[in-house]
This record gives sequence, structure tokens and C-alpha cells, in this order.
Amino acid sequence: MTEPVLINLTGKQSQIIVEVGEFAEILYWGKPVQGALENYRKSLYRPVPFGRLDKDVSMTLSPELGRGVFSSPGVEGHRDGLDWAPVFVVQQIVEIDTGVRIESVDELAGLSLTTELCLDADDVVKTRHTLTNLKAGVYQVNRLANTLPLPARVNELMTFFGRWVHEFQTARQPLIHGGYQQENRRGRTSHEHYPALIAGQQHFDELQGDVWGFHFAWSGNHRMRADVKADGRRLLQAEVIYFAGEVSLAQGESVTSPWLYASYSDKGLNGMSQQFHAHVRHRILPKEFVAKPRPIHLNTWEGIYFNHDPEYIMSMATQAAAMGVERFIIDDGWFKGRNDDKAALGDWFLDERKYPQGLTPVVEHVNQLGMEFGLWFEPEMINKNSDLYRQHPDWLLAVEGYEQPTGRNQYVIDLQNQEAFDYLFERLDHFLSTYNIAYIKWDMNREVVQPAHGGMAAAHKQTQRYYQLVDKVRAKHPNVDIESCAAGGGRIDYEVLKRTHRFWASDNNDALERQTIQRGMSYFFPPEVMGSHIGASHCHSTRRRHSIEFRGLTALFGHMGIELDPVKESQEEKQGFEHYVKLHTALRPLLHSGTTWRIPSEDKAHQIHAVVSQDKSQAVVLVSQLAMPTYSLSGHLRIVGLDPESTYQVSVIDKPENFNHIVACQPEWTASGCKMSGEWCQNVGLTMPILDAESAILIELKRVS
Ligand code: GLA
Repeated sequence: MTEPVLINLTGKQSQIIVEVGEFAEILYWGKPVQGALENYRKSLYRPVPFGRLDKDVSMTLSPELGRGVFSSPGVEGHRDGLDWAPVFVVQQIVEIDTGVRIESVDELAGLSLTTELCLDADDVVKTRHTLTNLKAGVYQVNRLANTLPLPARVNELMTFFGRWVHEFQTARQPLIHGGYQQENRRGRTSHEHYPALIAGQQHFDELQGDVWGFHFAWSGNHRMRADVKADGRRLLQAEVIYFAGEVSLAQGESVTSPWLYASYSDKGLNGMSQQFHAHVRHRILPKEFVAKPRPIHLNTWEGIYFNHDPEYIMSMATQAAAMGVERFIIDDGWFKGRNDDKAALGDWFLDERKYPQGLTPVVEHVNQLGMEFGLWFEPEMINKNSDLYRQHPDWLLAVEGYEQPTGRNQYVIDLQNQEAFDYLFERLDHFLSTYNIAYIKWDMNREVVQPAHGGMAAAHKQTQRYYQLVDKVRAKHPNVDIESCAAGGGRIDYEVLKRTHRFWASDNNDALERQTIQRGMSYFFPPEVMGSHIGASHCHSTRRRHSIEFRGLTALFGHMGIELDPVKESQEEKQGFEHYVKLHTALRPLLHSGTTWRIPSEDKAHQIHAVVSQDKSQAVVLVSQLAMPTYSLSGHLRIVGLDPESTYQVSVIDKPENFNHIVACQPEWTASGCKMSGEWCQNVGLTMPILDAESAILIELKRVS
């Protein structure tokens, strides 16, 4: 290609301008710009300072050392020590879907690099690369990174961190010099290094500022980095971490990077999240998942753990149905020899000692009560104390001769081993074909250490084989919903979501902790894919106690469920569950299709979460008081996202039992409601009631004119 061409990708709120000549460079990514682009060169060509290379160096979509780019390259590899610094020259641009495919080749190195870059109507960018070895001899790929530029005005990051029972925590940090890097080598998406970050201009917040959000759709090892080059330009990279020797390409073979998703908004974090949520609903979730209302769950785990007695479980189901539950799930503990977490993983046969009459009576009982039935599996795992391991000790994902540390007493099965893969498929298929199972919870409870197939590193392929196993199960059983769980929120990302229905956000059912976890998850995921359960009043993971109102309202804003033993609960608690199940069922169409707003508050101890219907005729606002109120008066609630011209009836539809007794008087509107315009709600607002720490109120707004 001789003359550079300009590619203009437009969304509703954003635009990307790419110049493609010998190589491709993003010149602009931000608000849509009007007008002719003919003079862009004059306005954008960079000066060439002294003391550097004698010509301008572009930041291409795959930075190349050979062009004089000194930042982290897009491709690293070699052919027996040669062809290690490829320079790709664009051959062809092809229009695809909502973007372009740019095909380039390095004839000398015998490699081709194909870059896909799309921007859809929800303003979400996606990009990935495919590297192909064109020459004889094996090309050893060390790195293949997706790269997107960030404007030089980006100087602050919002990053994610966490751990088991403490997922989706956020941190802010400056991005002035050097950069930020996160690396995950845990073999699953991980609780610790959730593969996303947000970059923006200093002080960006929920409602204001330019922000660029990034999500790397990969459920294994990854690296994400945001760099400030010495010349002030910034870039974002996301890639799979390949262990030594993991990706070797014979002539004609290719490797494709996972998709990097990104979105720009000039309306702060809410704007960005809303674009990602729309993208998830329109393009990530399979169509059938979006169409169907999400049934309310009762999961047995925290109710009975490994203690399974079918008669008792049926009585739990009876109680669950009476409370309005729509899907009853038997969690861990149902299969042969599984009496604790030390044995039996891999032996996916019903434990006939626990279930002497088989599973059918339980499934039928659940179905007769009008509920769907669900079952827990952890297919990729094996305990040494299992029949499966005794028969196939060579099925471990491990380097022979080394003793790797266990996690929750278990090991991982090598999914590249075809026999093992077929066995797992056959076992899942058996249960799904034999019983009327509507849902499975697909768990993955340990981190992966020294993963190997035939002695060679196998983390990358293991992740791909996991996708293949889920895909194969889904192809045979397309109506079965799958929840992705990994000791809570250890495998939550867009690539899993293309094949699963929802996520178990955390093993922490403490409503207070859940508030923060769920808020963190909401940056990239809409509420309906977030499993959120009402736990027992005495929380198992934190030993805190919360009222049924606070637990109920916290669980309401996700895909709701209950996780406890309803047989043992008091009448009062059961009435509470029934109440929140009813409330969720009534609000579900709104909660699972509306626009999410995280609303800032004048009191840092508040957390405010709203969902507004797409036509702006209805909204619900949850005001949670996470800690002691900072001031004796709590300021104003200013509700955004409504139609300024419409009038709304505002009413409190749920509140703590003691709401009116903790102060001399609460604001009048909390008792009798009020009518306000959307404009008033947004700009003037409503006086906040006073709440005890660890309590919440739910407000509903309905358009009246
Ligand atoms: C993991 C999950 C839990 C539960 C247990 C069962 O910890 O996150 O929800 O299913 O496994 O062993």
C-alpha cells in the first residue's frame, strides 16, 4: 500500500480514526468529530525532537522494535533465535462486521499479522491479532499483545484488586510517568487480577470526565499494562502470558489473541458502564439468555454443605417453593464419596449411599413444586482420593516428577488429554440427558500450579480446552443454563460470558461486603448476570449479622437467590424471604433490562445504586448506608438518568423496620411520597432520610405525566 488511507469507525458517542499506510495507527479515539478529515495531517503530524531517532515514530496497533518503538512490542518470538524483531507491512484492509481487518506481512521473517478492530453502535471497541508462521521451521511465540493508544491527557487509573470473598475492590492511582502493570499467573481469570482497568483524566468520577475502560476477555493468565512513554504518549496493552514454549507455530499455523474490549465515554464511569452493559446484552450474551426471565434460586450450599439427605432436601425444596423460589439447586456433596472437601472430585456418579432411591425422586419433587432443578459440578478438578485418580493418575495437569501444592486438597485435570476430556463430557452429558436439569453451576476451586501436558507448559491450551468443553456441553444441551463460579468470583470475564448464563460473584454473602463487591462488578457487567443471594442472618464468611431488609435489598439488584436452609429458618425470616422474592419478581423486568446508575452521594458512607427503565418511565433507587452517617443530616439524594420533562411519583417501597423510630422525624416524602419532575430530582433532589449503619431503603419512581 502506498498512499495512507483513513478509516473512520463511528459509534453513537465515540469515534476512532485510524490511518493505515505501511502500518496502522490510531490517530484519534474520543467524542465524535464532525467535518472533513482532509486536513488531518497538517493538524496532527508530530515534531521530531533532537536527541531521538531522526524520524517520527508512530505508535502502531502492534508496536515494533524494528520501526524504532522502544515501548513493549506487540509481537515477541523467534525461529531458533532468528526473525525475532519483525516489521509488518500492511497488504490489505478488509471491511468486517463493524470494523476492519488489517492484514500485514513481514516477508523476511516469514510472518503475517492480522489485526481486527471494530467499534459497534454501543460504543464498544474490540480488537485482536492473529499471528501466522508462513515459513518453514517452528516460530516460537513469546508474546502477542493487543495494544490501544490512550490520549496524553490520561493521567489517572482505576484498577481492580481482590481475593477470595473480597472480589472487585477498586483503587485509584496516578499515571504520570512509568506505568502500571498487573500479571495473573493463577490459571483462571482470578480474584486477584480481574482483567480490566479504567483510564481517565484526573478526578474522573461516576458522572463526569473522559474515561476509557478496558476489559480483556480471557479466563487464564494475562498481563495488562498502561504505559507512559518518555515522550508523554500513553498506551494500553493486554495479552495472554505464555509460559516458556507454550505457543510454537509450525509453518501455516496461527495463534489468535483473545479480544480486548474497550469503551470511551465523556460522561464518566456511568457512561462507560452503560456502554459495556449494552454491549454485553446485545453482543456477548447468547440471544436465548437475554430473552428469558432469570429464575430465583435456592442453593443448598450454605444450608447443608456436604450433609445430603434426600428426604430433608425435598423438605427444603417444599419450603423454597412456598417462598416463591423458581429454581432449586443441589450444590456440592451429591456425588460418590463426597463427604467433605478432601475426596471424590472426578467421581461424577451419584452417591447411592446418600441417595438410595436415586436422584429422580428429588428432581421430580422439585419439578412438581413448579421449580426448575439445578446441580453443581466442578468438572476440571480431581482429588487424589478418588476412583478417577486411582484409575488415571496420569490425568493430572502437572509436570511429572514434581509434587505441586494442592488447593482445597485438589488437583486439576489435563483437558488436553482427550480421554479425560471425553470422560468429563460423557459424565456431564449423562446427568443432563438422564435428569430434567435446567441449570448447572460450573465451579473451579483452585489456582493452577505448574500446568503441563506431556511435560510442556499448558496453561493457554488448558483455558481453550475449558471453553471447548463448555461449548460441547452447550451444543448438546442448549437449554441448560450454566453459572460460572470459581470459589466465588474467580472466573468472571466476557469470554466465559459468551457461553455461560451468570456468574457467582463471591462466596461472601455478607450484605455489607456484597455492596462493595457488586458495585465493583457493575463497572463491566449488567445486574442480571450477577448471582446475588440472601444468606443466613449470621453470615458464614464474616460472622456478621444483618437484618433481612438489608440482606434482601442487597440481593435484589442482581440475579437473585437464597442460600441457606429454609427448614431451619424462623417464620419471620421466611416471611422476609417471601417478601423479597415477590419484590424481585415484580421488579425483575426493570432490573434486568434497565440502565444502571451508580449515584454519587454527599455522604461517603452511602452507596446509591439506581436502575432506570429504557423508556425512563420507571426507576428504582437503592440507598444503602454502609457505615455511620458522616453528618447528623444526610444531605440530598439527586437522582440522575430520569427524563427531566416528566413528572414522577416518588415513593419508598422498602425500608428498615425501625425506620421511623431512630430519629424524631424522617423527611415527609418518605411517608407519603411526592410528585417531582425528573429535572427537580436530578438538580435539587430529595432530602435524605437518616439511616442506621448497615441498612437501606428502596425508592421507586413512576412516571405520572
Ligand atoms: C465453591 C463455590 C461455592 C460452593 C462450594 C462447594 O467455594 O464458590 O459456592 O459451590 O465451592 O464446594
